[in-house]
Amino acid sequence: METERLVSGWKRPDDWDVELSLRPRTLAEYIGQDKVKEHMSLFITAAKQRGEALDHVLLYGPPGLGKTSLAHIIATEMGVGIHTTSGPAIERQGDLVAILTSMQANDVLFIDEIHRLSRSVEEVLYPAMEDSSVDIIIGKGPGARSVRIDLVPFTLVGATTRAGMLTSPLRDRFGVISRLELYETKDLQAIVERAAQILGVDVDPEGAVEIARRSRGTPRVANRLLKRVRDYAQVRANNCVTHQVAQEALALFEIDANGLDHLDRRILLTIQKVFGGGPVGVESLAAAIGEEANTIEDVYEPYLMQLGYVQRTARGRCLTSLGYEYLGIAPPEDIGR
Ligand SMILES: Nc1ncnc2c1ncn2[C@@H]1O[C@H](COP(=O)(O)OP(=O)(O)OP(=O)(O)O)[C@@H](O)[C@H]1O
Ligand SMILES: [Mg+2]
Repeated sequence: METERLVSGWKRPDDWDVELSLRPRTLAEYIGQDKVKEHMSLFITAAKQRGEALDHVLLYGPPGLGKTSLAHIIATEMGVGIHTTSGPAIERQGDLVAILTSMQANDVLFIDEIHRLSRSVEEVLYPAMEDSSVDIIIGKGPGARSVRIDLVPFTLVGATTRAGMLTSPLRDRFGVISRLELYETKDLQAIVERAAQILGVDVDPEGAVEIARRSRGTPRVANRLLKRVRDYAQVRANNCVTHQVAQEALALFEIDANGLDHLDRRILLTIQKVFGGGPVGVESLAAAIGEEANTIEDVYEPYLMQLGYVQRTARGRCLTSLGYEYLGIAPPEDIGR
């Protein structure tokens, strides 16, 4: 790869580079999530004025809403280094201790998928978060003894799609807990326009709105749809994404007017046909569709619920009258009772 670059003098722009270039770098570049941004900006300014590490931050919300981006932005805005890892990547206590002892004062430790940390690793985090220290066991058997190591102050930024799966001792040690919400269309439009500029794609405001509307409230989806619409525009429409071009392209890719794809429709139809409109547990629904229950819960359901097509009750998922309307099927008379 490196040789190829030297020899040919150009570098193949793979998706990874593009992904990185689309990532907002500062709070000012981070579009939407106004409340979270205002809070973060305040806490960061205060911590910097005091010359202290920012308090530990937990970011949660569905995939693709900008948790990883925000973690990096926090480090940039604080002017500190960032160490990134993820829950499943830290296998043993020693792995975490090694990271913690290598950090500089006030650095950010970003742990993605923090709900997947093992219990024993999590136990190392408690004193680290609370007193900036860790206890390690030296030696084995009767001669083993516990030694306390002091750490520099640091900020743990944890990200998760499911805050409910965090143990309460861990959750309670975060000073800031921020929930990222699905984005509004106007924010997604701005995200599409920013990405189009970076990618060098010509997009009309109406074309950007059309992509935004079908992006399920999710920046990552907006960027993905933009790239596919760009391909369409390049091959079939003079490289310019107008409203009509966006509509044609998205129809070709079977993304409907409010962003639902064939799996969303299958979820709705399965609840209706197989489970009589619900209530149905997510496991049964997942089995009937042949998808992971986690994927349905994290990726599909939040948007279907936001549209008001599906409701989550104590007994399971139900199709709502709006959901029936979307499917073009008359709802049963006793719906909602
Ligand atoms: N507020 C934003 N403004 C502009 N672009 C954004 C914003 N949030 C996210 N993006 C874009 O969406 C992409 C996905 O964001 P990111 O990787 O931060 O999401 P995530 O919440 O960490 O997702 P996951 O849960 O899958 O890890 C980013 O690469 C970036 O291009
Ligand atoms: Mg992420």
